[in-house]
Amino acid sequence: MPQAPPILTFEDVTRIFRLRRGFFAESKTLAAVDGVNFALRKGECLGLVGESGCGKSTVGRLACGLLRPSSGRALFDGKPLPEAGADSWAAGRIQMIFQDPSSSLNSKRSVYASVAEPLAARNVPRAERRERAEAMLAAVSLDGMGKRYPHEFSGGQRQRIAVARALVTHPDVVICDEPVSSLDASVQAQTLNLLRDMQERLSPAYLFISHDMAVVGFMCERILVMYLGRIVEEAPRDALFENAAHPYSQALLASASGGRWEKKLPPLLAGEPPSPLAPPPGCSFHPRCPQATAVCREEIPAWKDVSPGQRARCHRL
Ligand SMILES: Nc1ncnc2c1ncn2[C@@H]1O[C@H](COP(=O)(O)OP(=O)(O)O)[C@@H](O)[C@H]1O
Ligand code: SF4
Ligand SMILES: [Mg+2]
Repeated sequence: MPQAPPILTFEDVTRIFRLRRGFFAESKTLAAVDGVNFALRKGECLGLVGESGCGKSTVGRLACGLLRPSSGRALFDGKPLPEAGADSWAAGRIQMIFQDPSSSLNSKRSVYASVAEPLAARNVPRAERRERAEAMLAAVSLDGMGKRYPHEFSGGQRQRIAVARALVTHPDVVICDEPVSSLDASVQAQTLNLLRDMQERLSPAYLFISHDMAVVGFMCERILVMYLGRIVEEAPRDALFENAAHPYSQALLASASGGRWEKKLPPLLAGEPPSPLAPPPGCSFHPRCPQATAVCREEIPAWKDVSPGQRARCHRL
């Protein structure tokens, strides 16, 4: 199958946060995202996986214009991504689904109003908005429930409403940031299936963010592995699950249950990752890496190709 062209591209994107603790304290800087490159292709589901705090949500917010890069470029459809807002030319073309569905639903507005709202930014006539919002609610199995309010629904149903709202504009890109992490296990699979189903019908590209390797493995055909602000491996799903090249990817796979790595590797990820305020020099994974050598403590590893579509940053390759 020929590769689809990119719709969203990160070129060396870095995002620095400046932290100031108290008036006289020296301000500190933190690179939440450090030199990230990737291309999300039209219609694909690209996974972004890593432990909490590694910078996934910051990538997601950069990818929809909620944050600006400190350096580098984020391109949408070949043009610099505009700041998010109703008057932006990209409004409605990039949508977000968050971990907590309540953050995209207004408790004082009917479900119908919340779902129809993104259409206003696309200048869809009022009568058509109602029709399309109703069709979306039916598509997420909440037929005829538009007049109710968010509190009348369960967590899983509220996330389905958030899915309807995100997809009502027929966006090119949907950033899904931990969309099932707040849901009960029984509802997670249902919600993931709904997202897949919607992708088949409307063909948006998903940037699918999760800390859970099993979830990205289920959803995504290609996966980026992130550690302390940097992408350390990029691979097709099967290559990653069968033959992960980076010790950090292997450790994540070992801690996800049921995979072939489960019994092969000791649980490597004891303890928390180091603080991004003081990242270790060289390969920032070296304090936790069982394969680290002297060079790992000094030099940041360059990308090395591993197999078609798979590359990783590790001195051992
Ligand atoms: N607005 C902000 N100001 C300061 N630090 C931030 C801000 N947003 C995120 N961070 C820090 O950036 C790092 C990455 O955060 P985040 O992108 O939320 O990670 P993840 O989604 O992978 O858990 C964390 O250390 C976090 O504390
Ligand atoms: S570069 Fe060294 S420390 Fe980093 S993952 Fe590879 S072996 Fe481990
Ligand atoms: Mg996050």
